[in-house]
Amino acid sequence: MEVIRTVAAMRAVRTAWQNGQKTAGFVPTMGYLHAGHISLVRRARRENDQVIVSIYVNPTQFGPHEDFTRYPRDLPRDLAMLEVEQVDYVFAPEHNEEMYPIGSATYVVLEGPIVERLEGVSRPGHFRGVATVVTKLFEIVRPTIAYFGQKDAQQAAVIQRMTSDLFLDIQIQVAPIIREPDGLAMSSRNVYLQGDDRAAATVLYRALQAARAMIDDGERNGDKIREAMRRVILAEPRAHLDYVSVCDPATMVELDEVRPPALLPLAVRIGPARLIDNFLWRADGSWEVGRQADEV
Ligand code: PAJ
Repeated sequence: MEVIRTVAAMRAVRTAWQNGQKTAGFVPTMGYLHAGHISLVRRARRENDQVIVSIYVNPTQFGPHEDFTRYPRDLPRDLAMLEVEQVDYVFAPEHNEEMYPIGSATYVVLEGPIVERLEGVSRPGHFRGVATVVTKLFEIVRPTIAYFGQKDAQQAAVIQRMTSDLFLDIQIQVAPIIREPDGLAMSSRNVYLQGDDRAAATVLYRALQAARAMIDDGERNGDKIREAMRRVILAEPRAHLDYVSVCDPATMVELDEVRPPALLPLAVRIGPARLIDNFLWRADGSWEVGRQADEV
């Protein structure tokens, strides 16, 4: 495994494998890796000749009052985990000036409900930062296939929309949410959950299960399903609801009458942690609810 710290070095390596006609699977991350990230890496390893993982805490996707400076970081530990997974290259730009050279003035901006609703309400500018850094990473690495997690369902929809709109020659694959045994979706930010907050955090999964049960029982009224999720969250005193939604998984437009495909995303604050999760009711009527780490 080779660790690459500059854009120039990454481009040199990429040119070499392109000439060799090898397929390249790419997993962009912000590090502090867990089994969710590793599930993406394993899938990339199975499906490609070369595997590249990027580790970069991207400043432009954090709001001024968000956790950029305290976001957990542990590069030596991340590298040890990736070595075990037989990753070929880790692109970990060392200085922000690599990704955003002095004088940078270009950003990638999507428009409409896909970026304005849900996370877009609580985190204005977040998807501008994500779309910008992912576009840069795609051009630096030029992968055959890039892998994203269903955990960040709106992010995955934004990347798919952007890739299609800009005719980027990259396949996007979205992989299931990896969960702790009690249902909590794995996240680098789960380290913020201390004491009783950790048990309270299962409320997101419980709200999603309640919503799924209603849909499986035939409920199709979006307001009733959202209300049921809200009730589960409000019953947990440590939880502060940000949003619950039943929406179109491609556009994030809210559904009045629920029919598949439907995405059920929610965001909840517990202590210092802001947590997100979702279930997906697929077009064929089956559910994507994620899986546990030992099934990776
Ligand atoms: P990060 O939060 O590190 O996540 C990297 C990838 O891992 C994302 O595609 C995310 O959806 C996926 N992931 C996180 N937790 C997961 C889980 N429990 N199960 C499955 N997949 C999971 O998302 C980002 O970084 C950044 O926004 C990035 C795309 C790297 C751009 O900076």
